Amino acid sequence: MLNRSRRLRTSAAMRNLVAETDLRPRHLIQPHFVMPQAGSTEISSMPGIVNAGVEETLRQVEKDLKKGLSSVLLFGVPDDASKTPDARYACDHNGVVPVAVKALKKAFGSDLIVMTDVCLCGCTSHGHCGIVDEEGVVRNDESVAILAEMALRHAEAGADVASPSDMMDGRAGAIRAKLDEHGFTQTSILCYAIKHSGAYYGPFREAAHSSPKFGDRKTYQMDPRNAREGLRDALLDIEEGADMLMVKPALPNLDLIWRLRERTLAPICAYHVSSEFSSVKAADRLGWVNGDQLMYEHLIAIRRAGADMIVTYAGREAVEKGWIS
Ligand code: PBG
Ligand code: ZN
Repeated sequence: MLNRSRRLRTSAAMRNLVAETDLRPRHLIQPHFVMPQAGSTEISSMPGIVNAGVEETLRQVEKDLKKGLSSVLLFGVPDDASKTPDARYACDHNGVVPVAVKALKKAFGSDLIVMTDVCLCGCTSHGHCGIVDEEGVVRNDESVAILAEMALRHAEAGADVASPSDMMDGRAGAIRAKLDEHGFTQTSILCYAIKHSGAYYGPFREAAHSSPKFGDRKTYQMDPRNAREGLRDALLDIEEGADMLMVKPALPNLDLIWRLRERTLAPICAYHVSSEFSSVKAADRLGWVNGDQLMYEHLIAIRRAGADMIVTYAGREAVEKGWIS
């Protein structure tokens, strides 16, 4: 037999020699839910992930950074009392995100990449990602103006990357223009380009207290039946000035990560979302799967599909338990 593929699988060293993909701490972005109060509260549907005060976040990031996790994505979790129909908390100079960004950049400087979620759902009383009119319709352009202001607040605080997840039209361009106008020409935009609506974000919404109070997000997030729609929007985001593109959720969209990679030369990030993480945790707790191994296999598949980097709640345990280094 001339061809024996098993020759290249004979030992770990041989398999490492021919491995095509790898997963390193530098590929991972650790999300943080930051709240204005001190302390930390567990999120029941996301084992190991907490809502934390600024001080607690700082301490956690310090530990993670020592292990090589050098990028974070911050989500603000304001009190219910701060939520209004116009999401004004999103543009508050003393909001929890600007405060946390300042503290992190002061402590870790350029060793840490601080990314911030730019979206209104954590700040609106109705839980939608934009401003809603009397008929309950999410108003695009009014929302985009607020998102640009929100991104500016994050940039002023020192954020390296603004990451709009709202899915309004034209927000990449509006944010780019706003940042440039105020001299923040070096603040990057990681734009959610392909983001499908549906059940995948359930545990996140528990963590961020950001479920819509009525209706759903189908008029702004994408229809999971579509692929070309997402690719088209992604290319528009690049034209508008996005530096990097996000695809989300990750595993259901490996095809789109791959296809996007063939159409743009910008770095691609995949979001391994809350339920992708929580499903592994739940099955592991039931004793049905080896959770660590399964989580690793999720992440390596996402890398193999073509993601340059991955937002994942499993970042910390990956480096702590030493299943990547
Ligand atoms: C806010 C936002 C969401 C996620 C990231 N940014 C929730 C949503 O769109 O409802 C989901 C992330 C996750 O599930 O881990 N727009
Ligand atoms: Zn949102």
